[in-house]
Amino acid sequence: MAKKIGILTGGGDCPGLNAVIRAAVKSAINDYSYEVLGIEAGFEGLMVSAVKTLTMESIRGILPKGGTLLRTTNRGNPFEYPVTEEGGKRCEDRSGACLYNIERLGLEGIIVIGGDGTLKIAERFYEMGVPIVAVPKTIDNDLDATDYTFGFMTAVSVATDAVDRLHSTAESHNRVMILEVMGRNAGWIALYSGIAGGADIILIPEIPYDPQAIVDSIKSRQEEGSDFDLMVVAEGAKRVGGEEVYTDKVAKRLGGVAYQVATEISEHIDLETRVTVLGHLQRGGSPIPFDRLLATRYGKAAVDLVARGKFGRMVALRQDKIVDVPILSAISNPKYVDPSGQVVTTARSLGISFGEPTKG
Ligand code: F6P
Repeated sequence: MAKKIGILTGGGDCPGLNAVIRAAVKSAINDYSYEVLGIEAGFEGLMVSAVKTLTMESIRGILPKGGTLLRTTNRGNPFEYPVTEEGGKRCEDRSGACLYNIERLGLEGIIVIGGDGTLKIAERFYEMGVPIVAVPKTIDNDLDATDYTFGFMTAVSVATDAVDRLHSTAESHNRVMILEVMGRNAGWIALYSGIAGGADIILIPEIPYDPQAIVDSIKSRQEEGSDFDLMVVAEGAKRVGGEEVYTDKVAKRLGGVAYQVATEISEHIDLETRVTVLGHLQRGGSPIPFDRLLATRYGKAAVDLVARGKFGRMVALRQDKIVDVPILSAISNPKYVDPSGQVVTTARSLGISFGEPTKG
């Protein structure tokens, strides 16, 4: 009888998820003659045994598609599953139902594609004896274990396109255009798209900003004859001595720091200021070729790990090679922008301001 493996996508969606699924299914069937079960909506599908067999037919045409064929959720932690009853909400441990279904379905390996939240759940199951292999996913690129997560470069490409489009309108109207991008507490998307789009100011969480430094930078460009500015702000950016800005503090949903920056600087400059929040446009749609390729390499490598019985491992990209690392190391080491690293130094040499307070 064919060995049966499962595959699921958890957490927020990300361009390239379908490319991983496609590569994993193709490699599982072509190289190992496995039967592949797609588990619906992350770990929630495991709780209720919502699975479907993935064949060559079912994955046809999904390579360029955004989102995930298997659907996903960032609310389905089986160890703390939220239930609403009379008298309010509480959390229930439903991991037992997952374990029961894994056994009943006869899964000899599960490929979990997710970001840090999903990988934490995966690691817990692995420690309970579940044969899990992980694939890192997030547009934020904030995992130290890998050079790049798939989806990041697509988000950078969307954000760069937005900077380009804002450029012409900023110049036509003599305005300061502020673009807020995603990335949670890491400034990668802002840094890369800001440099690629030729921004004048980039604000990232790793370098707290001083509104006066931003004002000074805008004025000094005006003195040089440029009456417009492009600013890219990471959603997790914060003022020196300040805190992150949330649209929902309880849910820890970041957003709105660009409006805060606009308010802080607009009284001190004689240019109009406008804000654009790019939001989920960065997550939706077709992955760029870099992400399709990376996702494909990850999907194939994950199946190889299952075949070799190397569980509790995550595929990662290091110096253009696909390697595997413990899932635990991936979830315990976030990756942030190094304020004195090469990319930031390059940006500084080009005259890009990070809004840092002037020394002295
Ligand atoms: O982690 C990916 C990400 O897109 C972050 O950049 C962003 O802060 C968050 O997810 C948004 O999550 P949601 O889709 O739940 O609003």
